[in-house]
Amino acid sequence: MPYISTQNKATVLMRFIFLLVLLPLLVSGQQKTAPTNTAAAAIQIIPQPVSVLAQAGKFVLTANTTIYIPSAPADWATAAEYLTGLIRGSTGYNLVNQRFNDKFVAAKSNSIYFLPDEKISTPEGYVLEIKPTAILIRAQTAAGAFYAVQTLRQLFPAQFNNANTITGVVWSAPCCKIEDAPRFSYRGLHLDVGRHFFPVDFVKRYIDLLAMHKLNTFHWHLTEDQGWRIEIKKYPKLQSVAACRDQTLIGHYSDQPQKFDGKKYCGYYTQEEVKDIVRYAGQRFVTVIPEIELPGHALAALSAYPELGCGPGPYAAATQWGVFEDVFCPNEKTFEFLENVFKEVCALFPGPYVHIGGDECPKTAWENSEFCQQIIRREGLKDEHELQSYFIGRVEKMLEKQGKKIIGWDEILEGGLAPNATVMSWRGIEGGIAAAKAHHDVIMTPGSHLYFDYYQSDPATEPLAIGGLLTMETTYSYEPIPTELSAEESKYILGAQANLWTEYIEDGNKVEYMAYPRVCALAEVVWTQKAKKNWPDFTRRLKAHFARLDAMGVNYAKSYYDINTAYANNKVRLSTLDKTQKIRYTTDGTALTPAAKLYSAPFAITQNTTVRAAVFQGQQQMGKTNTVNYRVHKASGKPYTMSRQPEKYKGGEMYALTNGIVGSSKRWDQWVGLVNHDIDPVIDLGATTTFNRVTTHYCNAKRSWIYPPRSVAVYISNDGKNFVLLAEQYIDADIMIGITAETVQLETPGAKGRYVKMIAKTYGTIPATAATGAGEGVWLFIDEVIVE
Ligand code: ACM
Repeated sequence: MPYISTQNKATVLMRFIFLLVLLPLLVSGQQKTAPTNTAAAAIQIIPQPVSVLAQAGKFVLTANTTIYIPSAPADWATAAEYLTGLIRGSTGYNLVNQRFNDKFVAAKSNSIYFLPDEKISTPEGYVLEIKPTAILIRAQTAAGAFYAVQTLRQLFPAQFNNANTITGVVWSAPCCKIEDAPRFSYRGLHLDVGRHFFPVDFVKRYIDLLAMHKLNTFHWHLTEDQGWRIEIKKYPKLQSVAACRDQTLIGHYSDQPQKFDGKKYCGYYTQEEVKDIVRYAGQRFVTVIPEIELPGHALAALSAYPELGCGPGPYAAATQWGVFEDVFCPNEKTFEFLENVFKEVCALFPGPYVHIGGDECPKTAWENSEFCQQIIRREGLKDEHELQSYFIGRVEKMLEKQGKKIIGWDEILEGGLAPNATVMSWRGIEGGIAAAKAHHDVIMTPGSHLYFDYYQSDPATEPLAIGGLLTMETTYSYEPIPTELSAEESKYILGAQANLWTEYIEDGNKVEYMAYPRVCALAEVVWTQKAKKNWPDFTRRLKAHFARLDAMGVNYAKSYYDINTAYANNKVRLSTLDKTQKIRYTTDGTALTPAAKLYSAPFAITQNTTVRAAVFQGQQQMGKTNTVNYRVHKASGKPYTMSRQPEKYKGGEMYALTNGIVGSSKRWDQWVGLVNHDIDPVIDLGATTTFNRVTTHYCNAKRSWIYPPRSVAVYISNDGKNFVLLAEQYIDADIMIGITAETVQLETPGAKGRYVKMIAKTYGTIPATAATGAGEGVWLFIDEVIVE
């Protein structure tokens, strides 16, 4: 699929309403009032638990509340200390955890109990009971207790999540009984620290936030072409050389000409820092999976140790993004290097897995290397893909000796899978399906739903991102178990993970912007039972969750407040995801203020008009301003037919070609796009009409496989059957570069008729000489047929 401002990664190598039982409940020492709907709706947890039963009354936390923890197992103290830390931060109460050795019989008043309970069948599951006198947390393991704490923090007022002490708040939580357990055992979030480096404190905050959302795995992408970011004591040049690049690309990879900042960029984590982060993650029941990329994405390592490459070198850490041909050579020096690196890495990470990459490894250097060809012959390998499998097989054995299992990106399937490898399916779900059918464990991370480096809203008004569009709703809709798998095969799907690649993410603030609130959606994908997932209810709960994120100072994106526009019958319709929000707008070109007109119903426009709209809560604008320049012309809002309908690129509306909005090179969603096919609308103007000109627009973005049309022609007809050619223009597509939106204007002086047909001819096939996609059918993107 093409997408505007694509990343090379994706194209180069291929890329619950609660079921609230309103039962009057008899709670000890408690009035017998049935909970109201309001009480139930006030319990807004993300991710949605298995069952939530609202009860009457509330527990009030005070400076005298006592927390009781069992004297064993030891890690229960960790879960309890997390709670006392939260309490200390926001309430300022310095509660001390009391150990109790006795078998729990009855709760003392004003207390919180952590109670190991073997009857709770799921290791990470818990039962949280809030009564007016006490809070009871039961779980089989400390991890379960920790998740109960994460739920509990969402039951106190939002300010409970503030790290700084706030006075004047009654710290109450509504009485309820929540039973919960995760749907999947693997719930991950990834961070690429290779393209950009993030300080230790930020990495900790990232882990703390993911744990808040009941994710349990942090995939730490530590090595890249652009920088090696983990200290390996045996190889000091990994620190002094490979941790640095000379400069960094400014702007998007596809901008022409490319610009660089001219500044050396360095960063790595010392082993002490790594241990600190791993310990911090452990205290949040998060396993850290280190990724050491091989054989590809290894340019930084080669820059320090050129003997690990197949060519003569010298090599330099990459200063721009993409996939590079210089990769680890499968020689004994490389295997010795990797064995030593993994010895140090394995000692730092107590988890069961090491991720060895395996993605995007061009085979050019191996094809050109007589040494590699000899190994292929010696080992009886079929080709370079099998050579990659040979490489990964040797690495798997070295890691097995260290007691570790490997995870690799789905390319590791290509030359035959290493015997015990777990596959991360990123190029769609096919790799995951194939691996599960071959009885290998799988983690689903498809780019289509779980790549948080993609735009989450209109690229024209978003900070620079790699490309694509992946809204929170798309993430929420993701179902990790492919329908292609049998029940037995489905057991190999351990869970899912979202990935955050940081080519276009320079700092922690932007990491949070790209990750949140999509991580909230991911949390329901991996934790919430399938039957309990409910998008409208999620969006309702999310508002309460935003207040928690606000209390924590999380820089989450405000796309929740995006305005959607539609145009039909010369009327503009405005809407938002959350129908309770107030939209204000202007149509006279003026800027928006809290005093702008309140939207209540679709409004007519009869001339070219700039519509500006945004959500307001009182004086505060909540999201971005949506600005649309409507072109009103003789075909605006008119219906048309096409010989083939677009499936993916529909331009957003039923009649996108006549909706008054002209496609832009910065947006994906306005164009009508077809692959390998002409775009040939026949517009019914409704009555015989005289016009002098027909103008249309096409998108040129060859690196994304979007090519200009060969020609554009306009025809006229009175009956919609017999057409006469009015004008035609040929387009020299071959000379066009970059990403542009182009205009074609055809003069048709005095033309008169009811039906206007336009044919934009497809370029055909991507030429063999093209940088990407040679031999594939091109995409043709057309928008707005303006008849004047
Ligand atoms: C990847 O996105 N190259 C795994």
